[in-house]
Amino acid sequence: MRFWAVIPAAGIGARMGVDRPKQYLTLAGRTVLEHSIGPLLAHPAIAAAVVAIRQDDPWWPTLTLRNDARVHTCAGGTERADSVRNALRHLLERGAHNDDWVLVHDAARPCLLAEDLERLIETLKDEHIGGLLAVPVTDTVKRAAGDGRVETTLPRTGLWRAATPQMFRFGPLVHALEVATAEGLLVTDESMAMEHMGHRPLLVASSARNLKITHPSDLPIAERYLECSL
Ligand code: CTP
Ligand code: MG
Repeated sequence: MRFWAVIPAAGIGARMGVDRPKQYLTLAGRTVLEHSIGPLLAHPAIAAAVVAIRQDDPWWPTLTLRNDARVHTCAGGTERADSVRNALRHLLERGAHNDDWVLVHDAARPCLLAEDLERLIETLKDEHIGGLLAVPVTDTVKRAAGDGRVETTLPRTGLWRAATPQMFRFGPLVHALEVATAEGLLVTDESMAMEHMGHRPLLVASSARNLKITHPSDLPIAERYLECSL
């Protein structure tokens, strides 16, 4: 049984709206992508990582990361799930087995703590299906109507914000993503595809530091977290 990392890094960062995809912005001396993949490559269990990148991505070749023998690339896809599927196909060519573990981690999550990664792997490694890092919701949550007014307040109990890495067995994950694609179901994370197959992924508590960089206002927060752990 082996552990593989998959890093979807083929997004364009439309909501960030800067001159390059957000995974190539530099924070605390390194690119967001290098920070994101760092804890996975540092973990002794991870055999190799596949990074899904856009065709003609001019930034990837500038990273020294591409010289790491454990780091491979594949083509990105239209949606995040397509990028992940391409990476899984690449892993199949590299000899991944159905029982192997795959950890999918967003290129835009540079603040993953080694201890959260360790807890995820330790908690799930004897599980049948897998699970994900997630953060319990602390705010009161509202659902808005179309006019921007509150429609309802959702009970906070039992609500979590899904993060990454999401860790699933290779074979079942490939199958779940294929079914989602065939049915035209847009899955925004791997867990959603697994849930659609009737599986019940385990939620593993993550530090709230593990934010996904989305808007410009996320950058100084992430940079502060990264500087604190240097
Ligand atoms: N991603 C990907 N392939 C896509 C779309 C997204 O590999 N076709 C990756 C992004 O690079 C990112 C992760 O999936 O690491 C999470 O996606 P998101 O935060 O939505 O990033 P973007 O799609 O780049 O941002 P936006 O939605 O604002 O354009
Ligand atoms: Mg996106």
